[in-house]
Parts: sequence; C-alpha cells; structure tokens
Amino acid sequence: MVSPAGCWWRRLAVAALAVSLGLEAVYRYLRRRRRGTPREVLFFPAPLSCSEPLLSPGTRCSCPLPHEAGGALSQLLRRLLGARRSLDICVFTFSSPPLARAVLLLHGRGVRVRVITDSDYMAAAGSQIGALRKAGIMVRHNQTSGFMHHKFALLDKSIVITGSMNWTMQAIQTNKENVLITDDGVCVRAYMEEFERLWEEYDPAGYHFFPEDDKEGA
Ligand SMILES: *[C@@H]1O[C@H](CO)[C@@H](O)[C@H](O)[C@H]1NC(C)=O
Ligand SMILES: *[C@@H]1O[C@H](CO)[C@@H](O)[C@H](O)[C@H]1NC(C)=O
Ligand SMILES: [Zn+2]
Repeated sequence: MVSPAGCWWRRLAVAALAVSLGLEAVYRYLRRRRRGTPREVLFFPAPLSCSEPLLSPGTRCSCPLPHEAGGALSQLLRRLLGARRSLDICVFTFSSPPLARAVLLLHGRGVRVRVITDSDYMAAAGSQIGALRKAGIMVRHNQTSGFMHHKFALLDKSIVITGSMNWTMQAIQTNKENVLITDDGVCVRAYMEEFERLWEEYDPAGYHFFPEDDKEGA
C-alpha cells in the first residue's frame, strides 16, 4: 500500500503529464492546420488555374483562367508561400514565372532563400535565376561537370518537396510529373544534409577555375 501522500503526488504528476501531452497535441494540430496536411502527393499536368489570388491576394484578376483555389500548381504555390523562416531550393531548371514570383514574395517578406541550380541551364532562355539574383537572393551552381539534376526544396527546414518536376511551365502544363511533400523527419534531415553539403561544395570562395573572377562572388 502506498501512503495517501505518495498517492496524491503520483496523481498530480500523472495529471501534469496528461496536460502537457494534451497541449503538445493541440500545438501540433494548430501547426498542421496552418500549413495544411503535412504529407501530400501532387501530379502534373493538372488543369491550370490562375495564380493571382495566391500571388497578389486582394487584387482582382480578369484573365480567362478559373480563379477558385485548386489545381496542383496552386497547391504547390500555397505550400511554398507557407514558408516562414527559410526556403532552400535545389533545382535543375527554374523558369516558371509563378514559382519565381512566389520565391520573390517570400524573399521580400524576409524569408531566408537559398538556391542551388545547374550552371548551364541558369543562363538558358526563360530562366528565372537572373531575376532571383537581381533581387538579392543567394544562388550557387554546380562547379563540376555532371548535371545538378536534383529537384527538391525545403521549407523551414521541416518540410521537403521533391519529385520529378523541373520548375518550368512545360513540366507543370505538359509533362507527367510527381511531387511528394512530406514532413517525415528522416527524409527532411537527409535532404537538408544534401543541401548543406552542396551549398558548401559550390561556395564561390572555393572556385579555382577562373582565379581572376574569385573576387566577384556568386
Ligand atoms: C554543370 O553541369 C552541366 C551539366 O548540366 C555542365 O554542362 C556544366 O559544365 C557544369 N558546370 C560546371 C561549372 O562545371
Ligand atoms: C528539365 O528541363 C530541361 C531544360 O529545360 C530539359 O532538358 C529536361 O528534359 C527537363 N526534364 C524533365 C524531366 O522535364
Ligand atoms: Zn486570373
């Protein structure tokens, strides 16, 4: 038999534990609600809808596309725009204007944006990389031959977006593409490590190809 006093303390401890677990569950629930379901798969091509309601909320758009929320591109944009602190993008080609606008919007809000891309395609016609750089976004690219063929992004170091999709309009409107969004900790950590590894590997301070260009930075 436990003494009545011991019993009382034990009950209090159990109650405190229950309350803290409950609070944590509520916190997680609210966080998920704010961000949407943390796990999701999107398929492209998808029926196109107008991105204006997401990219410039409050303004009226009279283009012929549907304006109600929906469509895989809207989903993807909504995800990206949910970033609060950081957005790390590692994509082979980046030429989609709505995706670039979303990234610029986040940059303007003070979200820390980093981009890794492929040195050949960043200069290709329609590439948005120049516009991102001009806005002051940090961009690094592959320094060795071999495609920088990744297509993933990390939001707030806690959600990974990955799949077959180039960030191009062709991929969004024409190609069969899949995009997986997950907050699985093991996946997020692995992608984060790969991103940081490449970010260091492509540090312009380490360029030795053209020593006279070293001072110019990325
Ligand atoms: C980056 O990879 C591409 C292949 O897509 C290659 O052609 C290019 O030379 C690489 N860049 C550098 C600086 O090695
Ligand atoms: C990605 O974009 C590049 C350049 O536009 C293109 O050559 C390549 O085929 C695309 N890949 C896919 C899977 O769409
Ligand atoms: Zn519109």
